[in-house]
Amino acid sequence: SPEVKLAVFGKAGVGKSALVVRFLTRRFIWEYDPTLESTYRHQANIDDEVVTMEILDTAGQEDIQQKEGHMRWGDGFIVVYDITDRGSFEEVAPLRTLLEEVKKPKNVPLVLVGNKSDLDHVRQVPTEEGERLAAEMACAFYECSACADEGGAVAEAFHELCREVRRR
Ligand code: GTP
Ligand code: MG
Repeated sequence: SPEVKLAVFGKAGVGKSALVVRFLTRRFIWEYDPTLESTYRHQANIDDEVVTMEILDTAGQEDIQQKEGHMRWGDGFIVVYDITDRGSFEEVAPLRTLLEEVKKPKNVPLVLVGNKSDLDHVRQVPTEEGERLAAEMACAFYECSACADEGGAVAEAFHELCREVRRR
C-alpha cells in the first residue's frame, strides 16, 4: 500500500503533539512532553485505499538545519498555528517560504491548521485571516481543536493532506 511521510510544523506550544495524539488515539493529553520529536506509523482507509502514514511531530524549538532536514524527509506538511497566538500565525509564512526553498522546484503539499478553536473567547486570529492565508498558499484550511474535536476536523486535515500528496 502507498506510504506517505507527513511532518507537522509550527511554533512551540501551538498544539502539534496534541493534534497528532488526538488523531492517533482520539484522546487529548493535557500534559505532553514538549519539544521531543517523535514519529508514528498509522494506517487509514482514505477513499477506499489503505494508506500508511509516517507522521513526524517536530519540536517547535528546532534550529534551521533540523527544520530543513525534516522538510527534505517529508512528502507533505501540516503547518499549525494557535488562533489565540498571533505570533504563531506570523510564523506560518516564513515556514512556507523555507518549505518552498527546500523542495524546489517541486510543489509542496500542505495543509494549514488553526488550532485551539475551543478558546474562541481569547482568539487573536480571525477565521477570515486564516482563510485568506490559505488561499494565498493555495492549500486547504481547517480550524480545529485537539481537545474538543467535535466534527472530526483533525482527522480530516490529516486525510486531506494524504490526498494532496497522492495527487502530486
Ligand atoms: P512543542 O512540542 O513544544 O513545539 O509544542 P506543541 O506544538 O507540540 O504543543 P503541545 O501539543 O505540547 O501543546 C501545548 C499546550 O497547548 C499544552 O498545554 C496543550 O494541552 C495545549 N493545547 C494543545 N492543543 C489544544 C487545544 O486544541 N485547545 C486547548 N485549549 N489547549 C490545547
Ligand atoms: Mg510537541
